[in-house]
Amino acid sequence: TLGNSTNIFWQECQVGKIDRQKLLNQKGCVVWITGLSGSGKSTLACSLSKELHSRGKLSYVLDGDNLRHGLNKDLCFKPEDRAENIRRTGEVAKLFADAGLICLASLISPYRKDRDMCRAMMNDSNFIEVFMNMPLELCEERDPKGLYKLARAGKIKGFTGIDDPYEPPLNCEMEIKQIDGVCPAPIAMAGQVVSYLKGRG
Ligand code: PPS
Repeated sequence: TLGNSTNIFWQECQVGKIDRQKLLNQKGCVVWITGLSGSGKSTLACSLSKELHSRGKLSYVLDGDNLRHGLNKDLCFKPEDRAENIRRTGEVAKLFADAGLICLASLISPYRKDRDMCRAMMNDSNFIEVFMNMPLELCEERDPKGLYKLARAGKIKGFTGIDDPYEPPLNCEMEIKQIDGVCPAPIAMAGQVVSYLKGRG
């Protein structure tokens, strides 16, 4: 739908996605990393970006926390704002994929309907949802920013996992979890995703 705009028309250019992909020798796609705060989303995104870079593949990280410093600075954490946060980021990720890049979006994106909206926005085969399936207890123990502590003390309201829900994916492309109670090292997690991407061409 066109939202609130009227009298607008889609413009095509002579150089398209296929041309850009040929130039870059890669396929544009979106790797959407979802999970609780402290589950390792940003760590995976950064490690993956480094791994792809070393293999001559151009990627770009869209980190939820970072986007909230600019593009999404007008949004808070109520459900409508989270939805708008995900929608905007999804649209930007789609543009990056269209530019031919491997876009690594790392956001809590706690609600299934918002992630599904992003998937629906782009060609399904370009959307790879990676679930950082880490137990809440582990994330809370890590508490890298001290936010769980504040949430438990009632100083942050609506914190994901504490008093706001996280809805795990039902059909994600990949899941990263502990093996025998041990979290995979960042390089190992990145390796898993790279193998998956290679398998998908
Ligand atoms: S969302 O839910 O996808 O819109 O969130 P996102 O844009 O990824 O931002 C998550 C980071 O914001 C900090 N933060 C909170 N997270 C969850 N709930 C509440 N209420 C909240 N308030 C602030 C937190 O540092 C998140 O960073 P990560 O990297 O996930 O730990």
